[in-house]
Amino acid sequence: MAWSSCLLLWLSLLLSYYYVPLSFARAYWPVGASTRFYHFKVQTLRVTKLCKTNDIVTVNGKFPGPVIYAQEDDRVIVRVTNQTPYNTTIHWHGVRQRLSCWADGPSYITQCPIQAGRSYTYEFTLVQQKGTLLWHAHVSWLRATVHGAIVIYPKTGVPYPFPHPYEEHSLVFAEYWHKDVLQLEEDVMSSGGGAPPADAYLINGSPGPLYNCSATDVYEIAVVPGKTYLLRLVSASLNTEHFFAIADHRLTIVEADGEYTKPLTVDSLMIAPGQTINVLVQADQPIDTYDMAMAPFMSAQNVPFQNTPAVGHFRYSGAVPEAPSRPAEFPAFNDNLTVDFALNNLRSLNETGVPLVVEANLLFTIGLTVEHCHSSYPNASCQGPNGGVFAAAMNSIAFVEPMVSLLQAYYENTNGYYTEDFPGVPLKDYDFVDGAPNDTQSLNGTRVKVLEFGSRVQLVLQNTGTVGTENHPVHLHGYSFHVVGHGTGNYNPVTAKLNLVDPPYMNTIGVPAGGWAAIRFVADNPGVWFMHCHLEVHASWGLAMAFVVKDGNGTMESLPHPPADLPRC
Ligand code: C2O
Repeated sequence: MAWSSCLLLWLSLLLSYYYVPLSFARAYWPVGASTRFYHFKVQTLRVTKLCKTNDIVTVNGKFPGPVIYAQEDDRVIVRVTNQTPYNTTIHWHGVRQRLSCWADGPSYITQCPIQAGRSYTYEFTLVQQKGTLLWHAHVSWLRATVHGAIVIYPKTGVPYPFPHPYEEHSLVFAEYWHKDVLQLEEDVMSSGGGAPPADAYLINGSPGPLYNCSATDVYEIAVVPGKTYLLRLVSASLNTEHFFAIADHRLTIVEADGEYTKPLTVDSLMIAPGQTINVLVQADQPIDTYDMAMAPFMSAQNVPFQNTPAVGHFRYSGAVPEAPSRPAEFPAFNDNLTVDFALNNLRSLNETGVPLVVEANLLFTIGLTVEHCHSSYPNASCQGPNGGVFAAAMNSIAFVEPMVSLLQAYYENTNGYYTEDFPGVPLKDYDFVDGAPNDTQSLNGTRVKVLEFGSRVQLVLQNTGTVGTENHPVHLHGYSFHVVGHGTGNYNPVTAKLNLVDPPYMNTIGVPAGGWAAIRFVADNPGVWFMHCHLEVHASWGLAMAFVVKDGNGTMESLPHPPADLPRC
């Protein structure tokens, strides 16, 4: 290369790195932070659990996968190499992907999958983000085993807003099947019926002593009496929400979905797939071994589920090794009240700047439906209720995954892959919770809702009682949202009480069974952003949609070009 062009290249790199537009006050962009580089090799790994040996897909031979460590405002670069025969992508759940929609990861939404033998480099900046988040595969049901924690520390010299813990530990919760999870998804989808229960629940890869053959497969934290521990709870579970508790110890919630909360002390808490909760635990009990355990929270009726808790040990130094551990106590598996208590009382630590007026007022119904058994299906594929086929929908539209990535289709202006007519309010008005129409049939389609750049959005997620009621953990990509309200029954704008001062700022909200939740956010991050139920089987059934957020006119308000190595379909 000629010396002059080399200089030019160098200069332009320098400029692109240091050029920070100052014209627009809201477009904060960090300078001077570090860059963290990771290489994720997606591989199959042979593991033995519950006395059976299986091949599972993981990252870098670890299960759960490696932790991403960073600090607030850091740039993160992860090269993902797919060494398996399956398609893969990685999603950085809770990372707001400021101006980096191409790095978000949901397959066929922001990218085509990384094919066998290929690589893709995800690059994003953790703009004003700290706390615990998670990463996971976002294709088929691969997330069951392809997942791990993201730990973002505050900037150097910035303390936690609570007493500094003696130690920190991440606890990653998962569900485990002996069956290959890609096969599992195929079987469930072609059966028309529900998903079979997991063979085990896992805490950091270990089921614990209540399971067959697992007396020594127990995750353990060695505890110094009198000290305070910070536990970063991460739910990578696939289809089940869980309670978490430690025998004889209370849990003080200090952070939810990577945002600080006012301290809230509970005996047990519910954590839904996709959620992350940080708790402080004081080792203030007599020297002994205490179970820390996760047990199912199942708000739906007549759904079979794995009922054996996964157990880890919170073991004080000096505890007698052979002595039996003290068992943790849980609410009943269907105890909605415990779940509501936490939601009622959770507050952001600080006032978070909730938009007080809204331009886009949306109401989406969410719930399961039953489709007619199509005569062209073999009988075996209609194992849903009353000989029908399970489906799920938002505003009566069951989401159909497109053949190309929506973001590419949007960016390149290609027609035919999606339509812009996702309804902002339900197509039919009825008593959503108690008055299910006889025909629950939904429409199929790849529909998006278009939002103007900068519009302030209120979205009410209204649970329906079409096929029983059930808590749905709804996750929005690209944003955190203020959970300004929630309640039982149908949302009523006149009587609904909203907290516009210090509501929790989350990325996944468990919409109460037979109730609603209202969220607000400012649509200031351009791109295509997926929103879906984080119970994977519900997402597969269609409980999903996508927002297109248009570009603004200012600097730092438009979607950048796609990276050169973006995977092709
Ligand atoms: Cu954690 Cu779209 O997912």
